[in-house]
Amino acid sequence: MTDETIVDPPQPVVDVANVGDWNTLLESAVADPEGFWEAEAQELEWSKPWDKVLDRSDAPFFKWFTGARTNIVTNAVDRHLNTARRNKLALIWVGEDTSKVRTFSYFSLAREVEQMANILLSMGVRKGDVVTIYLPRIPELFFAMLACAKIGAVHSVVFAGYSSEALNQRIDGSESKVVITVDGSWINGKVFPMKQIVDDAVKFSPTVENVIVVRNTESEVTMDPTRDHWYHELCKLPIAKGRCETVQVDAEDPLFILYTSGSTGKPKGVVHTHGGYQVHLSATMKYCMDIHEEDRWWCTADPGWITGTSYVIYAPLLRGATTFMAEGSPVFPYPDVWWQLIEHYGINSMFTAPTAIRTLMRFGDAWVRKHDLSSLRILFSAGEPLNPEAWQWFHDVVGNGKCAVIDTWFQTETGAMQLTSLPTMPKKPGSAGKPIPGQEVAVVDEDGKEVPPGTDGFLVLKNPWPSMLRTLYKEPERYVDTYWSKYPGVYLTGDSARIDEDGYVWIIGRTDDVIKVSGHRIGTAEVETAVGSHPAVAECAAIGLPHEVKGNAIHMVVVLHTGYEPSKDLIADIRAHVAETLSPIAKPDTIDFVEKLPKTRSGKIMRRVLKARALGEDEGDLSTLDD
Ligand code: WT7
Repeated sequence: MTDETIVDPPQPVVDVANVGDWNTLLESAVADPEGFWEAEAQELEWSKPWDKVLDRSDAPFFKWFTGARTNIVTNAVDRHLNTARRNKLALIWVGEDTSKVRTFSYFSLAREVEQMANILLSMGVRKGDVVTIYLPRIPELFFAMLACAKIGAVHSVVFAGYSSEALNQRIDGSESKVVITVDGSWINGKVFPMKQIVDDAVKFSPTVENVIVVRNTESEVTMDPTRDHWYHELCKLPIAKGRCETVQVDAEDPLFILYTSGSTGKPKGVVHTHGGYQVHLSATMKYCMDIHEEDRWWCTADPGWITGTSYVIYAPLLRGATTFMAEGSPVFPYPDVWWQLIEHYGINSMFTAPTAIRTLMRFGDAWVRKHDLSSLRILFSAGEPLNPEAWQWFHDVVGNGKCAVIDTWFQTETGAMQLTSLPTMPKKPGSAGKPIPGQEVAVVDEDGKEVPPGTDGFLVLKNPWPSMLRTLYKEPERYVDTYWSKYPGVYLTGDSARIDEDGYVWIIGRTDDVIKVSGHRIGTAEVETAVGSHPAVAECAAIGLPHEVKGNAIHMVVVLHTGYEPSKDLIADIRAHVAETLSPIAKPDTIDFVEKLPKTRSGKIMRRVLKARALGEDEGDLSTLDD
């Protein structure tokens, strides 16, 4: 396949698609974005209508649906209870041990959420308070997130793979009074001691008053009687019982904070709101994900990342769909566990990440072919470029040539997708598609001038969108600086890209100090802080190098303190140290020891020089190099 390869969508997909003529939709939405979003908002419930769809008066602090009152839980849960969806499955959950299955109708989901909400209220959690949720992929993650939203509290989900220091940083940053966690989580048949990590993390967190512990692995944990509570014990108490009202909040009130990596070691608390976010999710779930009433929808992402928060939890529930969640990894106990789940549960649409596709592809076609995957209609991917080889395999082998394969682009900051190929649109494998209805994008040069088609440059979004981040938690200046100051009036994505003659966008990669490893977003500064805190390390620099499966792998260049010698053991020790202090996902793949790092005269490490050298490429302009 080449850049010019165009694949028409399969006719059965076109026949049922919620979006008819994609061209007409895109043209009309872009002619009147606010009209488009307003019509989508009308499909949802609001206890008070908006005065204005979009308020630009305090740009770049845009406001959507101003004056309106709503709650995402009213739309994701409550409103379905007055319809036949009351008895429809909202969630099908399967454990890593796939014989463990839990299902919840919309009605029982509503009851579970009420119970958790009652408990949070009894702990004094009120509107605007932040609750940190550190849970693996289990149903209680749904209950916890929705319970916070229901009472107007703000959830901050921390990915279950983060270690205590990273968790501590996020708890402190958000001043959470309550943390919701588990005894442990299952990872490839072994217990990952999450409660222990919380214990270490909250030791230094002055704000935490209560820790709710869900029993999951039944492993031994230490409980502090003044602070820790078993969830199943709390549920038995009278305070947990009874109805709990869904509080109506302002459309612009915060729904959640999701920490993500940026250019410094300090993670950014991306803030999303109730009103606009629900509209954008609902619309993309309808037009882009093409969800149907009878569908079983599986997004494999973890809600510790935006894909999971948006497309495992909120978007499917907003559309009253059945969402599927699997606790385990794609290769445990065998590399066909996903295919087996699709077959057994009759999944219609699957949304996953390129790294998972490439991992499974390496195990060969036979694992896939032994399963009947004919329920599948559309296959989605997000998080990093879906290379044409992986696209082809996903299409030919998993989709058996009958499914649409759709790449989608978005960010923690954008909340919901911005680029995709609508189901009825011709696809260009390797490209992220076109802007969603109502959005316009451009690729600009260093001076902010739009470049001709086919030229690489910086990707910017031209229109505000309802699910946009509103600010960075407690760092409004950083919000303006990072996204809105380099090219005034447009949103800077941090990605490089090109747009071809037909308007398809091809993402090249990050232009800032962020590395996408297996789709996980990791800041060079974060890894450097972790490696730098190892006693042997004097100085270090992290770069991303291309990796066949992970997309990028972290390569570390290290200067040792005198008295330490490079060795295999030291490498292993540094990697273990990163796993412990930051996260196992951030472990450097390779470590090189050097005497000195290339720096500018002002002392800034020149990572591009390290990268060029590691790749055997031209080192470019070295005039600013100190030595
Ligand atoms: C960064 C955002 C999909 C949202 C989850 C990730 C990269 C995302 C694609 C894609 C190429 C992609 C970008 C972006 N990215 N989707 N389809 N093709 N690159 O959210 O963790 O905030 O990361 O992921 O570099 O800026 P995130």
